[in-house]
Amino acid sequence: MKDAQPHTVYLKDYRAPDYLVDTVHLHFELQPKATLVRSQLKIRRNPEAGEGLPPLQLDGVELELLSVSIDGELVPASRYRELPDGLSLPVAAPEFVLEIHNRINPEDNTSLEGLYLSNDMYCTQCEAEGFRKITYYPDRPDVMSRFTTTIVAPRQYPVLLSNGNEIARGTTEDGRQFVTWEDPFAKPSYLFALVAGDLQHVEDSYTTASGRQVKLQIFTEAKNIGKCDHAMRSLKKAMRWDEEVYGREYDLDIFMVVAVDHFNMGAMENKGLNIFNSACVLASPETATDSAFQRIESIVAHEYFHNWSGNRVTCRDWFQLSLKEGFTVFRDAEFSADMNSRAVKRIEDVSLLRTTQFAEDAGPMAHPVRPDSYMEISNFYTLTVYEKGAEVVRMIHTLLGGAGFRKGSDLYFERHDGRAVTCEDFIKAMEDANGVDLGQFRRWYSQAGTPVLEVTDAYDSASGNYALTIKQTCPATPGQEKKLPFHIPLAFGLLGADGRDLPLDAAGTTQMVLQITEAEQTFSFSGLTERPLPSLLRGFSAPVKVRYGYSTEQLLFLMRCDSDEFNRWDASQRLALMALEQLQRDYREGNKLQLQAELVEAYRSVLQNRDLDPALVAEMLSLPSEQTLAEQGEQIDAEAIIVARRFAREALAEALHDDLLACYRRLHTEKPYSPDAADIAERSLKNACLAYLCATGRADTLLLAQEQFRDAANMTDSAAALAGLVNHGDEAVAQSALDSFYQRWQQDTQVIELWFGLQSSSAKWGKLDKVRALMQHPAFELKNPNKVRAVIGGFANRNFTQFHCSDGSGFAFVAEQVVVLDKLNPQIAARLVIPLTRWKKYLGELGLQMKQALQSIMDTGKLSADLYEVVSKSLV
Ligand code: TRP
Ligand code: ZN
Repeated sequence: MKDAQPHTVYLKDYRAPDYLVDTVHLHFELQPKATLVRSQLKIRRNPEAGEGLPPLQLDGVELELLSVSIDGELVPASRYRELPDGLSLPVAAPEFVLEIHNRINPEDNTSLEGLYLSNDMYCTQCEAEGFRKITYYPDRPDVMSRFTTTIVAPRQYPVLLSNGNEIARGTTEDGRQFVTWEDPFAKPSYLFALVAGDLQHVEDSYTTASGRQVKLQIFTEAKNIGKCDHAMRSLKKAMRWDEEVYGREYDLDIFMVVAVDHFNMGAMENKGLNIFNSACVLASPETATDSAFQRIESIVAHEYFHNWSGNRVTCRDWFQLSLKEGFTVFRDAEFSADMNSRAVKRIEDVSLLRTTQFAEDAGPMAHPVRPDSYMEISNFYTLTVYEKGAEVVRMIHTLLGGAGFRKGSDLYFERHDGRAVTCEDFIKAMEDANGVDLGQFRRWYSQAGTPVLEVTDAYDSASGNYALTIKQTCPATPGQEKKLPFHIPLAFGLLGADGRDLPLDAAGTTQMVLQITEAEQTFSFSGLTERPLPSLLRGFSAPVKVRYGYSTEQLLFLMRCDSDEFNRWDASQRLALMALEQLQRDYREGNKLQLQAELVEAYRSVLQNRDLDPALVAEMLSLPSEQTLAEQGEQIDAEAIIVARRFAREALAEALHDDLLACYRRLHTEKPYSPDAADIAERSLKNACLAYLCATGRADTLLLAQEQFRDAANMTDSAAALAGLVNHGDEAVAQSALDSFYQRWQQDTQVIELWFGLQSSSAKWGKLDKVRALMQHPAFELKNPNKVRAVIGGFANRNFTQFHCSDGSGFAFVAEQVVVLDKLNPQIAARLVIPLTRWKKYLGELGLQMKQALQSIMDTGKLSADLYEVVSKSLV
């Protein structure tokens, strides 16, 4: 356990570091159970931190300390104090060289922080506070230092990597290899990385805008060497894009990427040596789905973009995490929008935000984009910090315009290059470069919760005046009862009866961004010769909920006519939500369920519309998820949600059968696979049709899935067909498809993860006993987060039906697994428990059962700081 007594850290207690580190020399002798670490630090009193020479406090966790010396003199153990989480030693001079020797145990490190072994490959993960599990160090991002690293390893680890440039290599007297790396850029310890293993690599090169040659390398185990091409192409596109859009060039002569099977998150932006979860970098058409291709493109870009937004300019402290993550997610989202369909990318991101981030913002762990306190920082790598943080940056972009935003980012990078800074510094640069005041806008960083906009309107036909009245409120969140009004950019337009945008002013502007700054505000427009229909929050211009009393007819109209593609989709979702809410009411009241005819006809016309991007059609045809439905009301009636959504899906499938089949047939071609946007779009619509068709349960449509499964030449089609059979086929058919799929792909880790996830997230197939059986499968590994996320996470997060089983067995199961996992990997345990934390919103027994499951975790006693924070905060 990292921390015996979890304690709370507050932003208001921030103090500059007492000492700075100018250079670090690290020396590793790799051994599975006893790696020797020698570190030599050139330390200097921080002139900005006050007078005198206070004791030097270093962070260190689970380290075996061997020796300490200062300026070459051994310090006797009686002179320093070893603490559970560090080391304290007296200081005699304002500048000195500290040398520390310690031992660590990578083989037994299942937390996957610090130095650990993954399939006989050594690798590190230091963000946020993992470096302290390698050696004693001031492990905080405002201490930036130049690192030199020597790795000594036996010959079975021929590839030895660290940050920066290789400056020496050779053989030791006892026949081991060594390599020395030097990183010319000062960096915080969280960006340190080391990799050692028997790895192969693919290589390419990139010429920067100023004509420098950069060597690009992607390292993997030999068996995966054929799965690196897509990541390499994505990397080169990202490098070009950052030059074109932000004027940012890469700064070292080499950029390396390593794929690792055991990894807590998606990937890590270590300087010059990005480390990736294998699932987020390796792909081939035969083994990876389209969504995997797109995920890889965006994550490769995300980590690359961190080189500027995160590494060159880094965070002063971890409360500022969104400074790098919100900005970098915004950058990668814009990159993906430029590479693919902008509207579809936006829809995907907003769907994620509305379901998971809105739920987080309404739950017990709700926190501002810049939190005020935390017990364990790993718990704050959240949708709020990442996705809502990106929305906040996007709003600045909307307020300043593209050119203004670029002026701001240029000033930000210029002013703060090589520094550790705050969210305030980011906004200040945006303000100063544009001469604007973002004073009120800053509340987005400090106030949690999702604002709600109540919109009403009035039209006076005599004068031609139209008035939009907007009221904003924001619900209370833990520790924040009252909120002040936000500065909200609301993009909008007005539609006339012919479906065209009406002019909003004398200049003929058809779209405007309203600046909402007060609790209640009215905006007036004149010269309107007919009553307009407002299209509100176009492109989702702010992370808020908009309430306006649209009628079914008005939504159908917006779905057909809105010039904003995002809002056409949004209208389809509002329409479906209305229908699903009606079905839930009918179910509760014991009425016969019947699907609104208008919804069926709206879907039919979308399906028949050949002018729309097929990917957009697929999005418009997809019903809001159970999670989205759960997020809507004050209380969650899980059973009504399950019944209503299932009914609607099956009713749509029956009613649209012929259109779905025609569309499926039209798009089911023999084209060779390409992961380009147009082809991905066609496959997504085709497979959306197939999923609906399978939901009818009819034998002839399941036969289609069987055929597609048999003939598929790419994983997108193969997995979609398999999902159809597993979700709707009879037991024997599903089992035989699953078996043959396993037989074919058992050697491929990424495909097997998909195979696990598809089963445990299936409402029909993924019953608890099946999920337990999957955990007994030889390919399952509790120490591998991807396997845990696929099987247990698939059940808890993506199998709404079985997780919410009325006897509470799903909750008890997750609680039981969380307790076991906490001993191995606290970060993963603390994430897996999240679906249990929303117990207060659930109606009846389910809520109580969830609470009991949480309490049972608490009652086991000794929890990690990670898990303790989430469980204790959600039990209050
Ligand atoms: N900085 C990483 C990113 O790109 C996040 C990350 C990777 C991380 N691994 C981690 C955070 C381990 C905490 C713990 O978003
Ligand atoms: Zn990131």
